[in-house]
Amino acid sequence: MATELSTNHLLGIKYITKDDIELIFKRAEEFKEVINRPIKKVPSLRDVTIANLFFENSTRTKLSFELAEKRLSADVINFSSSSSSVKKGESLLDTVNNILSMKIDMVVMRHPEPGAHFFLSKHIDASIINAGDGTHEHPTQALLDAYSIQERLGKIKGLKVVIVGDIRHSRVALSNIMCLKKLEAKVAVCGPPTLIPKHIKSLGVDVFYNIKEALEWADVANVLRIQLERQDIKFIPSIREYQQYFGINKDLIQSLDSEVLILHPGPINRGVELSSDVADSDASIILDQVENGVAIRMSVLYLLAAKLKIKA
Ligand code: CP
Repeated sequence: MATELSTNHLLGIKYITKDDIELIFKRAEEFKEVINRPIKKVPSLRDVTIANLFFENSTRTKLSFELAEKRLSADVINFSSSSSSVKKGESLLDTVNNILSMKIDMVVMRHPEPGAHFFLSKHIDASIINAGDGTHEHPTQALLDAYSIQERLGKIKGLKVVIVGDIRHSRVALSNIMCLKKLEAKVAVCGPPTLIPKHIKSLGVDVFYNIKEALEWADVANVLRIQLERQDIKFIPSIREYQQYFGINKDLIQSLDSEVLILHPGPINRGVELSSDVADSDASIILDQVENGVAIRMSVLYLLAAKLKIKA
């Protein structure tokens, strides 16, 4: 197994290898053991300064990165665009360069524009981690999803995973597809035709338009919410109709021939894509995903910081 990452940044799953993913999982397993100890902190990132730059809302990802950084003893600064000079017209590059002149080593960034991280990586020296760029990628979410599946089912290779919901507007869907395919899972998507991109099959995935057929096929379902905030036109007649045709509830789960493991990246719209009696059931690993998110992010930060030391 590789001992270092093949890249200096985590811009997307597209840019990392299967070996990188396996190395991230291996370190995450070690960090998971650390965060379950009475003393949860290690000195691995002492003297490393990390800026968390959030130009878009976040609950889980922001808290999870911040906790991961603190568990590794990094120095952390937080920036949120809603309370910053971005509102006064400052460009992304100017904002980031001003922050970097405070001697920042790593940048964790969420940004509404697809490719914003790639652009930054061409202009600054710090290591960049993508915490979500518009409808494009959310690599640490895909890593923690795949890690959680592997932890529960013991493998990824050969498993059938269906991603259900608003595939068109989802960065989680694209990163999950690429991550799971690199780990040799069979991947499908399911949702209304208007929420499935036309050329999705070119990524090597199957498409279902019927939720029961999709769940009968799958070992695992990763359920996504409808991203109304990214829809400038109506892609579905109503949320009520979506829930009727694609919502996953206990009756549907009990009608299946075999068990399906349920994941959701959050935030959940309870009663729409997932009923509470499924989200909170033994078939669901939603809270394991959140716990594993900290270990995965510690692993990514640790491995990228090691690359910084090699560069220095
Ligand atoms: N899963 C996820 O990205 O959640 P947040 O938007 O709350 O970070």
